Order: sequence, then C-alpha cells, then structure tokens
Amino acid sequence: MRNVTLEDVFTHPVTQRYLKRSGIAHAISVAEYAFMLAKKHDVNPDHATKAALLHDIGHYTWYREGKWDYELYKENDIHAIKGASRAHKLLIRIGEDRQAAKEIAVAILLHTDSYLPKGELQLKPLQQVVNMADEADEEIGGNHHYKVIEDHVALERIRVLDMQIDEYINKNQTKEIV
Ligand SMILES: [Fe+2]
Ligand SMILES: [Fe+2]
Repeated sequence: MRNVTLEDVFTHPVTQRYLKRSGIAHAISVAEYAFMLAKKHDVNPDHATKAALLHDIGHYTWYREGKWDYELYKENDIHAIKGASRAHKLLIRIGEDRQAAKEIAVAILLHTDSYLPKGELQLKPLQQVVNMADEADEEIGGNHHYKVIEDHVALERIRVLDMQIDEYINKNQTKEIV
C-alpha cells in the first residue's frame, strides 16, 4: 500500500499554487501518459505519475512588458531544478518514502534537457518515462501550459489514476519494476 496517494500530492496547497502557474490540465495529462508508459516499460507507476504530476512545479513566469515571453523563458529557465527541489520538500513533508522522494525529484530534474549538455546523459527508465510523457502532451509555443480544466474534473481524473495505480501494484506484486 502506498503511504502517499496522487490525490494527497495534488490537493496539497503547495501543489495547487504552483500548478496553477504551469497548468493543471498539462500536469494531469502528463501523469496519465506516464501511467501508460510506466506499465509499458516496467517502471514504478506510483513514482512515474507523481514525478509527472509535479514535473513543472518549478515554473516561473517570464514577463516582458506585461506579456509572457516564451523566448525569454527558453533562454533563462531553470524550472526543472526548482521543481525537483520543491517536489522533494513537499513529498517529504507529506510522508513520502525518502528513497521514492529522491527518485521522483531526480526524474523531475531530468525531465527536460533544455539546460543540459546534449547527448551526454544516460537516463534511467523512470526518467525516460517522465520525459516521454511530457513530450507527448507538448504543444507549440508552450500552449500546453494554458489548457483549461475544471476543478472537479481534475480531481476525478487524479482519483481514477490512483485507483489504476493501486490496482496495477496489487496485480503485479511479484513483477520487477524500477
Ligand atoms: Fe517542464
Ligand atoms: Fe511540461
């Protein structure tokens, strides 16, 4: 049994505050993609969905003359570093297992390679899954951050994911997942 659910993570005020900046709809879609990809690649779906849900909580809004500037953001952004740190602090605070919190935080740190030397990193399967899930929901010009979702729909989708994760973990207790 997991001691922290996706719903615990999602409904926490810290998550809500930061996800409102980077887009709740994007975070949930990426968590859903991460669940599918985790099953396919024998990755722990609990870690993958938590990392996916929180992957963009480090976002800062880059404004130039009152307007969000995508180019400015791309040049100066360190949201994955900030997000990894915020996610780790939050997960530990709500009682997540320390090893899990570390794996999730590192997957968030590496979900984008925008500031990393190209081709020099060998990503672990969990990190690859989070990266692929994010790319699956990406839209041109960062539009995926502006998709809208109603609060009750968001919570419902999180609860469905929680049920699917529990079901998968129960069914696959002897299976080797990373
Ligand atoms: Fe991101
Ligand atoms: Fe993202």
